[in-house]
Amino acid sequence: MRQSLNPENRSPCVYVIHENDEWVVPLRKNFEARRIPFAEWHLDEGILDLRASPPPGVFYNRMSASSHTRDHRYAPELAAAVLAWLKGHGAVVVNGERALQLELSKAAQYEALRKFGIETPQTLAVVGHGNIAEAARRLGYPVILKHNRAGKGLGVRLLLSATALDEHLASGEFEPSVDGITLVQRYIKAPAPFITRVEFVGGKFLYAVRVDTSQGFELCPADVCQIDAPPLAEVCPAVAPSDKFQIVRDFDHPLLPKWQAFLAANDIGIAGIEFIVDENGRAFTYDVNTNTNYNPDAEAKDGRAGTARSGMGAVASYLGGLLARETAAAVNSFAEPVPA
Ligand SMILES: Nc1ncnc2c1ncn2[C@@H]1O[C@H](COP(=O)(O)OP(=O)(O)O)[C@@H](O)[C@H]1O
Ligand SMILES: [Mg+2]
Repeated sequence: MRQSLNPENRSPCVYVIHENDEWVVPLRKNFEARRIPFAEWHLDEGILDLRASPPPGVFYNRMSASSHTRDHRYAPELAAAVLAWLKGHGAVVVNGERALQLELSKAAQYEALRKFGIETPQTLAVVGHGNIAEAARRLGYPVILKHNRAGKGLGVRLLLSATALDEHLASGEFEPSVDGITLVQRYIKAPAPFITRVEFVGGKFLYAVRVDTSQGFELCPADVCQIDAPPLAEVCPAVAPSDKFQIVRDFDHPLLPKWQAFLAANDIGIAGIEFIVDENGRAFTYDVNTNTNYNPDAEAKDGRAGTARSGMGAVASYLGGLLARETAAAVNSFAEPVPA
């Protein structure tokens, strides 16, 4: 399935830029079911020949911020180079350079969300182990610690007091973010233990899924995460209740147009946006995932499995549509009468 970044075969197809084979399995099935030609650029390593131009097609970036946890430390850097090259050549890219930049930095996400009047939890970005306690003191307890470059709930800890924070920092359990930036964030206490994740495909709302957080902080809707369960607060809890992910019927929210405007302005076509509502009914948006995964059980229960209303079904259809448009445009430009 892996393809060279400068392939010999140049028949147009959808190129999927990623670094985790397991997460691409459902997408492959949906491409195949629709007979959409595709290839994969698994960017854990590779050679990008900047002298060449990209092959014809459509490019979908689903590089993950947590790639270093799979020993793919430099995959995001290679993806950034590839996206710059694609942009330079005017290629059609879904989730381009700016999307990757936001995927890799929650601080950058919050700044971009703020521009659209979308409220995020108060956050201090800290470099330097010795500065974390001071940042927490400024913010006031309880605080959440998390990694700036994260995914999979990396480094998420709830700390109720300065004593608890000091113990945590001294315990050896504290792990720095791969980019060195720890976020010290206001804890949003929800009256009921759930968060909501809103899925967008082609910039349009697809569905919202309610995620039960009663067993701890986490959030990766893909099956694989539920099986390889790391410890509590690190990702998916060991025993995930079968109704952990539930698609919300007839979801509507006043933030929908703002989220959509934010996505459009930041070169993000496909994303899952997470928010929590506090005791006063205020919604805080705290995570934007540009390599979003979907929960098959929740989709099956909602009658979406195997349809274009499922996450990967919608992604494949959307990308297939873009490819058809590109191919038609190429044929038309070829067929255009040459002026005498
Ligand atoms: N400020 C917060 N208040 C309350 N819970 C939070 C907060 N930030 C994160 N969480 C919990 O931790 C989970 C993981 O945090 P998130 O910011 O989504 O990181 P990741 O990018 O690793 O998924 C969230 O889904 C939520 O359950
Ligand atoms: Mg998250």
